[in-house]
Amino acid sequence: MQLLDGRALSQKIEIKVTTEVKKLKAQNGVTPGLAVILVGNDPASQAYVNMKKKACDRVGFYSVTHEMPEDISQDAIENTITMMNDNPNIDGILVQLPLPSQIDETRILELVTPSKDVDGFHPYNVGRLTTGLDGFVPCTPLGVMELLNEYDIDVKGKNCVVVGASNIVGKPMAALLLNADATVEICHIFTDDLKKHTLNADIVLVGVGVINLIKEDMIKDGAIIIDIGINRAENGKLVGDVDFANVSKKCSYITPVPGGVGPMTIAMLLKNTLKAAKINASEKA
Ligand code: GUN
Repeated sequence: MQLLDGRALSQKIEIKVTTEVKKLKAQNGVTPGLAVILVGNDPASQAYVNMKKKACDRVGFYSVTHEMPEDISQDAIENTITMMNDNPNIDGILVQLPLPSQIDETRILELVTPSKDVDGFHPYNVGRLTTGLDGFVPCTPLGVMELLNEYDIDVKGKNCVVVGASNIVGKPMAALLLNADATVEICHIFTDDLKKHTLNADIVLVGVGVINLIKEDMIKDGAIIIDIGINRAENGKLVGDVDFANVSKKCSYITPVPGGVGPMTIAMLLKNTLKAAKINASEKA
Protein backbone atom coordinates (compact mmCIF):
# COMPACT_ATOMS: atom_id res chain seq x y z
CA MET A 1 0.00 0.00 0.00
CA GLN A 2 1.21 3.46 -0.90
CA LEU A 3 -0.03 6.71 0.63
CA LEU A 4 -1.19 9.45 -1.73
CA ASP A 5 0.51 12.37 -0.03
CA GLY A 6 -1.61 15.47 -0.60
CA ARG A 7 0.40 17.52 1.82
CA ALA A 8 3.64 17.03 -0.11
CA LEU A 9 1.99 17.73 -3.48
CA SER A 10 0.20 20.82 -2.16
CA GLN A 11 3.54 22.22 -0.99
CA LYS A 12 5.01 21.64 -4.45
CA ILE A 13 2.04 23.46 -6.01
CA GLU A 14 2.39 26.37 -3.57
CA ILE A 15 6.02 26.83 -4.63
CA LYS A 16 4.96 26.93 -8.28
CA VAL A 17 2.11 29.37 -7.56
CA THR A 18 4.46 31.63 -5.55
CA THR A 19 6.87 31.81 -8.51
CA GLU A 20 4.03 32.60 -10.90
CA VAL A 21 2.69 35.33 -8.61
CA LYS A 22 6.12 37.01 -8.57
CA LYS A 23 6.21 36.84 -12.37
CA LEU A 24 2.71 38.30 -12.71
CA LYS A 25 3.64 41.16 -10.36
CA ALA A 26 6.88 41.90 -12.20
CA GLN A 27 5.47 41.65 -15.73
CA ASN A 28 1.91 42.97 -15.33
CA GLY A 29 1.97 44.79 -12.00
CA VAL A 30 -0.87 42.52 -10.88
CA THR A 31 -1.35 40.86 -7.49
CA PRO A 32 -3.98 38.08 -7.53
CA GLY A 33 -6.82 38.96 -5.16
CA LEU A 34 -9.30 36.66 -3.42
CA ALA A 35 -12.45 37.77 -1.57
CA VAL A 36 -13.94 35.32 0.92
CA ILE A 37 -17.43 35.67 2.33
CA LEU A 38 -17.97 33.93 5.64
CA VAL A 39 -21.41 33.98 7.24
CA GLY A 40 -22.06 32.95 10.84
CA ASN A 41 -19.96 31.26 13.51
CA ASP A 42 -19.63 27.65 12.34
CA PRO A 43 -16.23 26.60 13.75
CA ALA A 44 -15.46 24.30 10.79
CA SER A 45 -16.18 27.06 8.26
CA GLN A 46 -14.10 29.50 10.29
CA ALA A 47 -11.21 27.02 10.35
CA TYR A 48 -11.41 26.42 6.58
CA VAL A 49 -11.52 30.14 5.80
CA ASN A 50 -8.55 30.69 8.11
CA MET A 51 -6.54 28.03 6.29
CA LYS A 52 -7.46 29.53 2.90
CA LYS A 53 -6.42 33.02 4.04
CA LYS A 54 -3.09 31.77 5.39
CA ALA A 55 -2.40 29.95 2.11
CA CYS A 56 -3.14 33.19 0.18
CA ASP A 57 -0.62 35.01 2.38
CA ARG A 58 2.04 32.33 1.82
CA VAL A 59 1.90 32.60 -1.98
CA GLY A 60 1.67 36.42 -2.08
CA PHE A 61 -2.02 36.92 -2.95
CA TYR A 62 -4.06 39.84 -1.70
CA SER A 63 -7.03 38.49 0.25
CA VAL A 64 -9.95 39.97 2.10
CA THR A 65 -12.52 38.18 4.28
CA HIS A 66 -16.01 39.62 4.67
CA GLU A 67 -17.33 38.21 7.93
CA MET A 68 -21.08 38.50 8.41
CA PRO A 69 -23.39 37.57 11.29
CA GLU A 70 -25.62 34.48 11.19
CA ASP A 71 -28.80 36.63 10.90
CA ILE A 72 -27.54 38.63 7.89
CA SER A 73 -30.05 39.46 5.13
CA GLN A 74 -29.97 38.15 1.57
CA ASP A 75 -29.57 41.73 0.31
CA ALA A 76 -26.51 42.41 2.43
CA ILE A 77 -24.66 39.36 1.08
CA GLU A 78 -25.74 40.15 -2.46
CA ASN A 79 -24.51 43.74 -2.12
CA THR A 80 -21.09 42.49 -0.99
CA ILE A 81 -20.87 40.09 -3.92
CA THR A 82 -21.84 42.84 -6.37
CA MET A 83 -19.10 45.03 -4.88
CA MET A 84 -16.54 42.24 -5.29
CA ASN A 85 -17.76 41.53 -8.84
CA ASP A 86 -17.05 45.18 -9.68
CA ASN A 87 -13.75 45.45 -7.81
CA PRO A 88 -10.82 45.22 -10.27
CA ASN A 89 -8.45 44.15 -7.47
CA ILE A 90 -10.51 41.01 -6.83
CA ASP A 91 -9.94 38.07 -9.19
CA GLY A 92 -11.70 35.38 -7.21
CA ILE A 93 -14.79 35.30 -5.00
CA LEU A 94 -15.50 32.44 -2.62
CA VAL A 95 -18.66 32.12 -0.55
CA GLN A 96 -17.99 29.63 2.22
CA LEU A 97 -20.80 27.09 2.44
CA PRO A 98 -23.11 26.21 4.10
CA LEU A 99 -25.07 29.45 4.37
CA PRO A 100 -27.74 30.01 7.07
CA SER A 101 -31.23 28.68 6.28
CA GLN A 102 -32.81 32.12 5.62
CA ILE A 103 -30.41 32.64 2.71
CA ASP A 104 -31.19 31.52 -0.83
CA GLU A 105 -27.89 29.83 -1.66
CA THR A 106 -28.66 29.35 -5.35
CA ARG A 107 -29.22 33.06 -5.89
CA ILE A 108 -25.97 33.85 -4.07
CA LEU A 109 -23.90 31.42 -6.13
CA GLU A 110 -25.52 32.63 -9.35
CA LEU A 111 -24.61 36.23 -8.56
CA VAL A 112 -20.85 35.57 -8.54
CA THR A 113 -19.40 36.57 -11.92
CA PRO A 114 -18.42 33.29 -13.63
CA SER A 115 -14.92 34.63 -14.42
CA LYS A 116 -14.35 35.19 -10.66
CA ASP A 117 -16.03 31.92 -9.59
CA VAL A 118 -12.88 30.20 -8.30
CA ASP A 119 -14.98 27.59 -6.45
CA GLY A 120 -16.63 26.56 -9.72
CA PHE A 121 -20.14 26.58 -8.19
CA HIS A 122 -21.87 28.88 -10.72
CA PRO A 123 -24.16 26.96 -13.11
CA TYR A 124 -22.18 28.45 -16.02
CA ASN A 125 -19.00 26.73 -14.81
CA VAL A 126 -20.90 23.57 -13.84
CA GLY A 127 -22.20 23.44 -17.41
CA ARG A 128 -18.74 23.96 -18.85
CA LEU A 129 -17.40 21.13 -16.70
CA THR A 130 -20.11 18.68 -17.74
CA THR A 131 -19.61 19.52 -21.41
CA GLY A 132 -15.83 19.10 -21.03
CA LEU A 133 -15.00 22.77 -21.68
CA ASP A 134 -12.40 24.81 -19.84
CA GLY A 135 -13.70 26.80 -16.87
CA PHE A 136 -13.46 26.83 -13.09
CA VAL A 137 -13.73 23.41 -11.47
CA PRO A 138 -14.61 22.86 -7.77
CA CYS A 139 -11.39 22.67 -5.75
CA THR A 140 -11.83 19.35 -3.94
CA PRO A 141 -12.51 17.09 -6.95
CA LEU A 142 -9.92 19.01 -8.99
CA GLY A 143 -7.41 18.32 -6.22
CA VAL A 144 -8.23 14.61 -6.34
CA MET A 145 -7.51 14.52 -10.09
CA GLU A 146 -4.17 16.28 -9.55
CA LEU A 147 -3.25 13.82 -6.82
CA LEU A 148 -4.08 10.81 -9.03
CA ASN A 149 -2.08 12.38 -11.85
CA GLU A 150 0.93 12.98 -9.58
CA TYR A 151 1.08 9.24 -8.85
CA ASP A 152 0.59 8.33 -12.54
CA ILE A 153 -2.78 6.76 -11.86
CA ASP A 154 -4.69 6.82 -15.14
CA VAL A 155 -8.45 6.51 -14.65
CA LYS A 156 -9.16 5.77 -18.32
CA GLY A 157 -11.39 2.69 -18.58
CA LYS A 158 -11.30 2.14 -14.80
CA ASN A 159 -14.41 1.44 -12.74
CA CYS A 160 -14.74 4.43 -10.48
CA VAL A 161 -17.37 4.48 -7.74
CA VAL A 162 -18.08 7.91 -6.27
CA VAL A 163 -19.90 7.74 -2.94
CA GLY A 164 -21.71 11.02 -2.31
CA ALA A 165 -23.65 13.12 -4.82
CA SER A 166 -23.17 16.68 -3.55
CA ASN A 167 -22.75 19.66 -5.87
CA ILE A 168 -19.43 20.46 -4.16
CA VAL A 169 -17.78 17.04 -4.33
CA GLY A 170 -19.63 14.03 -5.74
CA LYS A 171 -21.18 15.41 -8.93
CA PRO A 172 -18.13 17.39 -10.13
CA MET A 173 -15.90 14.44 -9.15
CA ALA A 174 -17.96 12.15 -11.37
CA ALA A 175 -17.84 14.70 -14.23
CA LEU A 176 -14.05 14.99 -14.05
CA LEU A 177 -13.63 11.21 -14.02
CA LEU A 178 -16.01 10.83 -16.96
CA ASN A 179 -14.15 13.56 -18.87
CA ALA A 180 -10.99 11.51 -18.25
CA ASP A 181 -12.65 8.43 -19.82
CA ALA A 182 -13.37 6.51 -16.62
CA THR A 183 -16.49 4.39 -16.16
CA VAL A 184 -18.33 6.16 -13.37
CA GLU A 185 -21.01 5.19 -10.87
CA ILE A 186 -22.41 7.63 -8.32
CA CYS A 187 -23.76 6.13 -5.11
CA HIS A 188 -25.60 8.12 -2.48
CA ILE A 189 -27.77 7.94 0.60
CA PHE A 190 -30.57 6.05 -1.24
CA THR A 191 -28.28 3.52 -2.91
CA ASP A 192 -29.32 -0.06 -2.17
CA ASP A 193 -26.43 -2.28 -1.14
CA LEU A 194 -23.49 0.13 -1.34
CA LYS A 195 -21.07 -2.78 -0.91
CA LYS A 196 -22.24 -4.40 -4.15
CA HIS A 197 -21.06 -1.27 -5.99
CA THR A 198 -17.83 -0.55 -4.12
CA LEU A 199 -16.69 -4.19 -4.37
CA ASN A 200 -16.60 -3.79 -8.13
CA ALA A 201 -14.56 -0.57 -8.07
CA ASP A 202 -10.97 -0.09 -9.19
CA ILE A 203 -11.16 3.32 -7.54
CA VAL A 204 -13.48 4.26 -4.65
CA LEU A 205 -13.90 7.98 -3.97
CA VAL A 206 -15.92 8.75 -0.88
CA GLY A 207 -16.99 12.03 0.66
CA VAL A 208 -20.16 11.85 2.73
CA GLY A 209 -19.13 12.57 6.32
CA VAL A 210 -19.74 9.13 7.85
CA ILE A 211 -16.93 7.70 9.95
CA ASN A 212 -15.85 4.15 8.90
CA LEU A 213 -18.44 3.96 6.09
CA ILE A 214 -15.99 2.09 3.84
CA LYS A 215 -14.71 -1.09 5.47
CA GLU A 216 -12.25 -3.66 4.18
CA ASP A 217 -14.93 -6.17 3.17
CA MET A 218 -16.40 -3.53 0.82
CA ILE A 219 -13.38 -3.15 -1.45
CA LYS A 220 -11.51 -5.48 -3.74
CA ASP A 221 -7.83 -6.35 -3.31
CA GLY A 222 -5.60 -3.65 -4.71
CA ALA A 223 -8.31 -1.00 -5.09
CA ILE A 224 -7.39 2.68 -4.96
CA ILE A 225 -9.11 4.57 -2.14
CA ILE A 226 -9.71 8.31 -2.15
CA ASP A 227 -11.08 9.50 1.18
CA ILE A 228 -12.69 12.91 0.81
CA GLY A 229 -14.49 12.74 4.16
CA ILE A 230 -13.51 14.85 7.10
CA ASN A 231 -14.99 14.05 10.50
CA ARG A 232 -14.14 14.71 14.12
CA ALA A 233 -13.88 11.37 15.96
CA GLU A 234 -14.94 10.95 19.60
CA ASN A 235 -11.31 11.23 20.70
CA GLY A 236 -11.09 14.62 18.97
CA LYS A 237 -8.96 13.38 16.06
CA LEU A 238 -9.75 14.16 12.42
CA VAL A 239 -10.75 11.08 10.44
CA GLY A 240 -12.21 10.43 7.01
CA ASP A 241 -15.03 8.16 5.80
CA VAL A 242 -12.78 5.10 5.40
CA ASP A 243 -11.77 2.61 8.07
CA PHE A 244 -8.14 3.44 7.36
CA ALA A 245 -6.51 0.90 9.70
CA ASN A 246 -8.13 -2.08 7.97
CA VAL A 247 -8.72 -0.82 4.41
CA SER A 248 -5.09 0.30 4.09
CA LYS A 249 -3.99 -3.35 4.44
CA LYS A 250 -5.99 -4.38 1.39
CA CYS A 251 -5.77 -1.46 -1.06
CA SER A 252 -2.94 -0.40 -3.39
CA TYR A 253 -3.13 3.36 -2.76
CA ILE A 254 -4.99 5.40 -0.17
CA THR A 255 -5.24 9.05 0.86
CA PRO A 256 -4.65 9.67 4.57
CA VAL A 257 -6.92 11.97 6.61
CA PRO A 258 -5.57 14.47 7.40
CA GLY A 259 -2.87 15.07 4.78
CA GLY A 260 -4.59 13.66 1.70
CA VAL A 261 -7.35 15.47 -0.15
CA GLY A 262 -7.70 18.37 2.35
CA PRO A 263 -4.46 20.20 1.50
CA MET A 264 -5.15 19.65 -2.20
CA THR A 265 -8.45 21.57 -1.92
CA ILE A 266 -6.59 24.64 -0.72
CA ALA A 267 -3.86 24.24 -3.33
CA MET A 268 -6.52 24.14 -6.07
CA LEU A 269 -8.13 27.31 -4.71
CA LEU A 270 -4.75 29.00 -5.14
CA LYS A 271 -4.41 27.56 -8.64
CA ASN A 272 -7.92 28.68 -9.64
CA THR A 273 -7.37 32.18 -8.26
CA LEU A 274 -4.06 32.49 -10.11
CA LYS A 275 -5.79 31.31 -13.28
CA ALA A 276 -8.50 33.98 -12.84
CA ALA A 277 -5.87 36.66 -12.19
CA LYS A 278 -3.93 35.68 -15.31
CA ILE A 279 -7.05 35.85 -17.48
CA ASN A 280 -8.01 39.22 -15.97
CA ALA A 281 -4.45 40.54 -16.47
CA SER A 282 -4.38 39.47 -20.11
CA GLU A 283 -7.78 41.12 -20.68
CA LYS A 284 -6.54 44.37 -19.13
CA ALA A 285 -3.32 44.34 -21.17
N1 GUN B 1 -17.89 24.15 2.22
C1 GUN B 1 -17.42 22.90 2.21
N2 GUN B 1 -16.54 22.75 1.20
C2 GUN B 1 -16.46 23.93 0.57
C3 GUN B 1 -15.72 24.40 -0.55
O1 GUN B 1 -14.94 23.71 -1.19
N3 GUN B 1 -15.92 25.70 -0.87
C4 GUN B 1 -16.77 26.50 -0.19
N4 GUN B 1 -16.91 27.76 -0.60
N5 GUN B 1 -17.48 26.09 0.84
C5 GUN B 1 -17.31 24.81 1.23
